[in-house]
Order: sequence, then structure tokens, then C-alpha cells
Amino acid sequence: MTIEIHAGEGTRMTRTLVISGGTDGMGRALARTYLERGDTVAVVGRDPAKALPGTTFIQADLSLISENRRVIDEVNTRFPVVDALVLCARYFRTHRFVTKEGLEGTFALDYLSRFLLSHGLNGPRTIVNVSGPGQPDGRIHWDDLMLEHRYDGMRAQFQAGKANDLLGVAFAARHGDRTRYVLIHPGGVSTSVAGEYDAATAMHVEALKRYGVPVEEGIKPIVARIDDPPAEPLTAFMRHRPIGLDLPSFDPGAAEKLHEVTLAVIGSTAGPI
Ligand SMILES: NC(=O)c1ccc[n+]([C@@H]2O[C@H](COP(=O)([O-])OP(=O)(O)OC[C@H]3O[C@@H](n4cnc5c(N)ncnc54)[C@H](OP(=O)(O)O)[C@@H]3O)[C@@H](O)[C@H]2O)c1
Repeated sequence: MTIEIHAGEGTRMTRTLVISGGTDGMGRALARTYLERGDTVAVVGRDPAKALPGTTFIQADLSLISENRRVIDEVNTRFPVVDALVLCARYFRTHRFVTKEGLEGTFALDYLSRFLLSHGLNGPRTIVNVSGPGQPDGRIHWDDLMLEHRYDGMRAQFQAGKANDLLGVAFAARHGDRTRYVLIHPGGVSTSVAGEYDAATAMHVEALKRYGVPVEEGIKPIVARIDDPPAEPLTAFMRHRPIGLDLPSFDPGAAEKLHEVTLAVIGSTAGPI
């Protein structure tokens, strides 16, 4: 956090935020909000044309471990202090996609990138993981983590959602003394909801866009948590409403198991976190 003194305006704090998926949807709207306040905002995404002028754009395909490592190095070098890391990158795929590193795409982008950025950046004060905490449909397919045998786009997304809940639990157990980890479900929000959909899912997505709240409304609970992070090391929210951490989704045993399994997945590729 930097303290800036403006003549006649008193003192205001400027902050540094890093937003993955900050080129579109809620990530982009958050970037705009904090730029307008005078904060430093770094956004990570693939498409430079969508980056807001004034942000520091870091181009990366976050579904690749190697790219996450490059982003981590760049952020840690350029921004020694990160006040808030906001995790928004996502991409839906009806058909199974395997990255060139051999990982199932939704696992790699919607979960593993968040694991890497959460653990790899230089101790952000707050991490806000925008996902879908506490969903009863979420489960980890321990025997088929890459969903080689039973891929379905929704199954992959629910698995990633559950994995993010467990990421929050395992992260808070290790770093709760220095970082507040917030899991937040924004509800239905009318964004681009980018992805590669079959016809039935595309119809569902169009309905979501029609009935979702506007992006500016959708980001309000996220802004509230960034501006005023809860005191606890880990919290979860459905928009503004807290979600109890006693749900099975936040099982500490499963969180530790996934942490170890994830380290093994990462360890099978070159380089440190
Ligand atoms: N919208 C909803 O109703 C809703 C509901 C529940 C939860 N959520 C969660 O809220 C978060 C934000 O969702 P949103 O709807 O705002 O998303 P969105 O509009 O679809 O934007 C997704 C972002 O992810 C980036 N991205 C996609 N693939 C990438 C890749 N391989 N590498 C790097 N960046 C990549 C995109 O940037 P580029 O195109 O530049 O790559 C874009 O900035 C997500 O985590 C989502 O799961 C949303």
C-alpha cells in the first residue's frame, strides 16, 4: 500500500491489485473501478485488445503452468507488495480439451492457475477467489482428476469449484496469519461467459446473460470484500451472504489431500511454483 498526500485533499491510500481474467466481464469491471480510484491495477488475460488503458497488461495463457510461473515472476518483480489478488479467469468447454502440458483445460485454468497464483505471489494481503463456493454438486474425481473417462463441461466446472473451496481451506491453514482468503459466488451476472458450447449449453448461457444482473451490480459484493476484507483467514460468500465453512465442501482432510495431489501434478512439470 502506498500513501499519497495530495495538497488540500488529505491523505489517501493507493493500492496494488492483480486481477486474473481482468480483461473481460467482472474482472474488467473491477479493474475499471480501482483504476478510477487511482490504484495500480495489473490484469492478466490473453487478449491485449480487451485490456483497459491504464492497467498493466500481462498477456498469458493461464491454463499453462509455465505461463503462470512467468506471470508470478513478473508480478513479484514489478510489484513487491500486492494488496489484493482477484481470481476471475475462466473458460467453459463442452468438449474436453487437453493443454499442451497434458492437463484437462478446466482443471488447469479454473483451479490450477488459482492455486499457483495464490501460493506463488509474494503474500498478497487479500485474495478474492471469484468462483462458486459451497456448491453441493461439486466433487473431486480422485480416480480421474483429468476427467479422461467421464468428461462433461458442467462436471469439469463443478470439480473446479469444489477444488477452489479446498484450495481456500488448505491455503488458510498455511498462510492465514498473513493473507485473508475470500471465496465468493457472484450469483448470475451478465458477462460474456466466454467458452465453446454445444447448442443446449449455449441456450442456457444466453438465458444466464438475459437474467443475470448487470456487471456493475455483479461486482458490488466483490468490491465490498476487497475494500473491507473479513478478519478471518478464510471466508465464503454467496454475493453478500456468508456461507458456513462447516459444509462438506470445506472438508480439511480433502483439502490437504488435494493440496498434496496438486503439488504432485505441478511437480511433474519443470520449475518451482
Ligand atoms: N458470470 C456469472 O454469472 C458467474 C457465475 C458464477 C461464478 N462466476 C465466476 O466469476 C468469475 C468471472 O466470471 P465472468 O463471467 O466475469 O468471466 P468472463 O466474462 O467469461 O471473463 C473471463 C476472463 O477470463 C480470461 N481468460 C479466459 N481464458 C483464459 C486463459 N486461458 N488465460 C488467461 N485468461 C483467460 C478472459 O480473458 P481473455 O479473453 O483476454 O483471455 C476474461 O478476462 C469466474 O471465475 C466465474 O467462474 C461467474
